[in-house]
Amino acid sequence: MGLLLKNINKIYVCDDKFRILKNSSIYIENGKIEDIGKIDKKGVEEIDCSNYICLPGFIDSHTHLIYGGDRVKEFELKLKGFSYLEILKKGGGILKTVSDTRKISDEELEKLVLERLNLMFKEGTTTCEIKTGYGLSLKDEERLLKILNNVKKKAVQDIVITYMGAHAVPKNYSKKKYVEEIINEGIKIASKYAEFCDVFCEKGVFTYSESKKICEKAKEEGLLLKIHADELSPSKGAYLAGEIGAVSCEHMVYSNLKGIRKMKEKDVIAVLLPATSFFLRKKFANAKKIKEEGLKIAIATDHNPGTSPCFSILTPAKLALFIMKLDIKDVILGITLNAARAIKREKIIGSIEKGKKADLVLFKTNDIHYLFYNFDLKFKKIIIKKGKLFKIDT
Ligand code: NIG
Ligand code: FE
Repeated sequence: MGLLLKNINKIYVCDDKFRILKNSSIYIENGKIEDIGKIDKKGVEEIDCSNYICLPGFIDSHTHLIYGGDRVKEFELKLKGFSYLEILKKGGGILKTVSDTRKISDEELEKLVLERLNLMFKEGTTTCEIKTGYGLSLKDEERLLKILNNVKKKAVQDIVITYMGAHAVPKNYSKKKYVEEIINEGIKIASKYAEFCDVFCEKGVFTYSESKKICEKAKEEGLLLKIHADELSPSKGAYLAGEIGAVSCEHMVYSNLKGIRKMKEKDVIAVLLPATSFFLRKKFANAKKIKEEGLKIAIATDHNPGTSPCFSILTPAKLALFIMKLDIKDVILGITLNAARAIKREKIIGSIEKGKKADLVLFKTNDIHYLFYNFDLKFKKIIIKKGKLFKIDT
């Protein structure tokens, strides 16, 4: 049976023109948007939405959601002034999470990911990208990829899988050997399960040329590319993203103009992660400059146990508005249409248009500004996903 969302106060279409439709309705059938406008239908389920605004379901285009344990102990060290890379060098950081992840059973790990996804769903996230990277051996990375494939079947959201074997060098392993292993075997295995390949191109982790070799191989195997670039220091990662034609380039805190302009040549999406800067008490990416240079910007949580244990996509959205000083339109496009572009789903999700999936989030308010003005309030919501309606009270 069809579903009619009747008389929505404002529909934020989230196309590139950022159109807003007032007092309009949306008709949904088989999980798709069939019609938008002044609609009257008999014999369908009808919901009065005159006290709601409607946005496309949010898309979290960058997360590391599959891990065991947490990093609260390290958080205490960080508050005392130890740096992220100092902690990683001591065998903490990513390597601590790798060992916590290897310790728990497949069932437990799957359950944890699904629980995290449920928390994100309640905040309006209807599509989520998830990276591996806490396996760090051929066997353990494959295990994570397999679990993510099960998660994909069970989650309320749509899931996009990214292989990130190149997240760190495993303990007691030579980097040269690990890079070769990824290139000669890891990527081939990953291409059976994943759609994207990501690499942590960073001083002290993988260099520009190691990252490039990994990306080239991934491309050859049909994987789309993402690059963690210039997160903690300049790494030439943004330049590499442009050079190699990555779909997106993530973080970009220390990216220079040369890198940004190279990205522009291939229309690489800039995925900015302000919750990470906030949590690390570090510099924020220069979003205004990146925008001025004509790049499209997506905004994501970067959810991970070390640098951003963040569930609500509205948190980085608010930081992008208040600290990066983007405007509301860019912030909202960053978690909708441009986020869809960052995961190559812009033809099917990210905006409210006929024929697209009916992934919708409705907030009980009458203008989008209230979501930011009352910056710590939780609004009542209605979420539509896979043809089902969910009422969320807080
Ligand atoms: O995006 N930079 C690499 N990956 C994560 C951090 C992962 C971790 O610390 O566990 C990030 O910040
Ligand atoms: Fe990340």
